Amino acid sequence: MKLFDVYPLNDITIVKAQGSYVWDDADQKYLDLYGGHAVISIGHTHPHYVKRLEAQLHKVGFYSNSIKIPLQVELAEKLGKVSGKEDYQLFMCNSGAEANENALKLASFYNGRKKVISFTKAFHGRTSLAVAATDNPSIVAPVNQTENVLILPFNNEVALEEAFAQNDISSVIIEGIQGVGGINVAADSFLQKIRSLCDQYDAVFIADSVQCGYGRSGKFYSHDHSGVNADIYTMAKGMGNGFPVAAISIAPKIHAKYFMLGTTFGGNHLACAAALAVLEVIEEDELIKNAETVGNYLIEELKKLPHIKEVRGKGLMIGIDLPDELKTVKRNLLFNHKIFTGEAKPNVIRLLPALNISKTEADIFLAAFKKELHSMAVTA
Ligand SMILES: Cc1ncc(COP(=O)(O)O)c(C=O)c1O
Repeated sequence: MKLFDVYPLNDITIVKAQGSYVWDDADQKYLDLYGGHAVISIGHTHPHYVKRLEAQLHKVGFYSNSIKIPLQVELAEKLGKVSGKEDYQLFMCNSGAEANENALKLASFYNGRKKVISFTKAFHGRTSLAVAATDNPSIVAPVNQTENVLILPFNNEVALEEAFAQNDISSVIIEGIQGVGGINVAADSFLQKIRSLCDQYDAVFIADSVQCGYGRSGKFYSHDHSGVNADIYTMAKGMGNGFPVAAISIAPKIHAKYFMLGTTFGGNHLACAAALAVLEVIEEDELIKNAETVGNYLIEELKKLPHIKEVRGKGLMIGIDLPDELKTVKRNLLFNHKIFTGEAKPNVIRLLPALNISKTEADIFLAAFKKELHSMAVTA
């Protein structure tokens, strides 16, 4: 049997990882500013994480949601506290797309409506309604196409007001900072407008925090920067530091009914242990503060550099928009400097490092990046 060939691969095999570094099978060390696609929040193989998961594995790894799982209650309390949403309710699942599916479905159960608003360049996952709400027709199969999703221009308040006036809107789903779309920050006034229109029409505000949440932006949810609360927050990636765990955090006005949502694996013992370990480290090591400090430092330093079109983002979610003639910089960082970064089309380098990246590690990246800019500019 062969692998189903859907991923273009770099010819690199990672066999070891620690903190913000990974090593390949030839023992070459790489600085990781990609975090395996924004997943590594507390650093690779963090000792507390390894210990908690290992201990849990020796006790019980899995049992179904038909019995009490006190770890879920412990996680709900901890997440409520760290995220500052103590009166919200937790439902656990397994991936970002599944979190968004559940959020959209729950919103529709709540107000009995069908229409969903999402925005240009949004990415919400690859499953049925999540992919329909994603602004990328090439990954939407005919079976996923639906008239229930309206994709409106990002950060355009007038279009939003008109859509609410003309349709029976169930929910609005928005990333506080678009990730796959190229690190585009939702304006505070836009998020505030979504809040007030959702209140006016009793629609549900869904904050897709799968990539921009969990402290990455320098606040627990990136939507917190605008000072408004969403009705449902969806999260995944950084939640488990690599263990597949996802969840939605649900406002008190939305009430649960038996069997309205459900999943076999969601909230299993190991997933809860991983998620608790992550929150314990985030809290203990003040990683949200570190994301803000090191992130602001990186953004300020990058803004001083020549040849860059734009630097966007908040905290440790940073997009460096490069002109076409510098499109090989990302590849050169990997192969000449052994630094992993992410990308977005056409020429945006995405920085999504672990939240405990140090200033020294940020400086290693900046030195390599400056060198690349310089040599490309000289040869251009
Ligand atoms: C904002 C956002 N939402 C949803 C998803 C989907 O998450 P998953 O790949 O875990 O299904 C992603 C993945 O990149 C994402 O960035």
